[in-house]
Amino acid sequence: MSRIVTFAQQKGGAGKTTVLTQLAHHWLASGLKVALVDLDPQGSLTRWAAMRSDMACTASSDWKAGSDIRAAARKADLVLVDCPGNADILLRATIRDSDLVIAPSQPSMMDLWALEPVLEMAKKEKTPLRVLLNRVPPTGRAAQDAREVLGADLLDQHLGNRVIFQQAFAMGKAAAELQPRSKAAIEVSAVAAEIDAIS
Ligand SMILES: Nc1ncnc2c1ncn2[C@@H]1O[C@H](COP(=O)(O)OP(=O)(O)O)[C@@H](O)[C@H]1O
Ligand SMILES: [Mg+2]
Repeated sequence: MSRIVTFAQQKGGAGKTTVLTQLAHHWLASGLKVALVDLDPQGSLTRWAAMRSDMACTASSDWKAGSDIRAAARKADLVLVDCPGNADILLRATIRDSDLVIAPSQPSMMDLWALEPVLEMAKKEKTPLRVLLNRVPPTGRAAQDAREVLGADLLDQHLGNRVIFQQAFAMGKAAAELQPRSKAAIEVSAVAAEIDAIS
């Protein structure tokens, strides 16, 4: 059976699309058949996928979303769903259909507070959710503070603030394709391994 992982968080700029593309490449390289569904009308995931030929990407919205996600799931081992910032009925239905929600967030208190609606939605729909800290500064207490707020909902692994993620995105690539031994690539592998271990 195919696994559906949805990337959601109300706040725009949290890193949903960036993180999704990095993980998509990781799982593809590990041998899985990966399909993408882009629910964001801005279409940045669609543009990224259009620059490569190894992952099908369906741009979808509204009433079509559920059937498009299920159609993707019939053809792939793993479906990764990118969501727009605003939370609405579409997000709730998508979370209901998902096996896991990953909510990327920058580690500031303001960003962590903005997670509340998606945390609540996932709880109501009984879909497991993990927060992934993104753009974590190399020094400071940001990650520890986030742990105190989020507890077990937070992944142990996180991603730093790395220019290569931006460069790779613009080229339709992942950091691991440009610099396989970079810190960015190593971080992505560690995050993926932790997500793989969630049953
Ligand atoms: N870990 C990171 N390091 C550096 N830049 C990042 C990182 N994550 C995201 N960004 C940048 O932040 C901006 C917002 O990211 P994006 O993935 O579009 O967020 P969202 O999809 O949640 O709106 C983009 O310009 C992206 O390149
Ligand atoms: Mg996005």
